[in-house]
Amino acid sequence: MNIILFGPPGAGKGTQAAKLVEERGMVQLSTGDMLRAAISAGTELGLKAKEIIDRGDLVSDDIMVGMINDRMSQDDCKAGVILDGFPRTVAQAEALDAMFAEKNITLAHVIEIKVDENALFARIENRASETGGERSDDNADVLAKRLKVYHENTAPVLPYYEAKGHLKTVDGMKSIDDVSHEIAQILTS
Ligand code: AP5
Ligand code: MG
Repeated sequence: MNIILFGPPGAGKGTQAAKLVEERGMVQLSTGDMLRAAISAGTELGLKAKEIIDRGDLVSDDIMVGMINDRMSQDDCKAGVILDGFPRTVAQAEALDAMFAEKNITLAHVIEIKVDENALFARIENRASETGGERSDDNADVLAKRLKVYHENTAPVLPYYEAKGHLKTVDGMKSIDDVSHEIAQILTS
């Protein structure tokens, strides 16, 4: 089964994806993690991405679509993937549709994790203190920019999937376990 976990920064996409990997053996494809790996490896892409991530902007659609296309071609993805942080623009969603059609893959669900904006600031601050500021974009200023970008570029992906009948919404204000439970219900429906 192939699903998309959708939501603003700090909504809990990565947290829920990790649980699905553990419980169902699905493969998590986090474009944010892939970019951070490129930054750590010091590749040319990593150098370019670091600047963009640090100001809270989006990396170009071409780069992101290419990254997902390469990853989706690997054998382990046949077991089913959780897309975490992709697609983030309508152009990425359209490219994903074309990619799935070409690979003969179907998309089961797009699960939106809905969280109040105030809670997102608290969660990101929390993560920053828990990880000792591991992520350079985990601060209130960059989060405000990421949220602006989310509203302008990413939220328009929701009606795109709603029109296709793929969209489901879970209450991300609940506890991590309760959110997992809601997601599990969607996956078994
Ligand atoms: P990315 O890494 O995807 O970051 P993001 O979307 O901003 O989201 P986060 O990873 O911050 O949050 P999350 O939803 O995963 O929440 P988490 O589970 O960690 O992207 C980073 C950057 O890369 C982008 O800004 C962009 O520049 C670039 N990029 C990535 N993909 C791209 C693309 N497709 N196109 C273009 N550019 C792209 O949870 C957050 C915290 O809250 C944790 O501490 C967690 O423990 C806690 N928490 C989780 N759930 C709950 C709960 N239910 N209750 C209480 N606390 C909770
Ligand atoms: Mg994440």
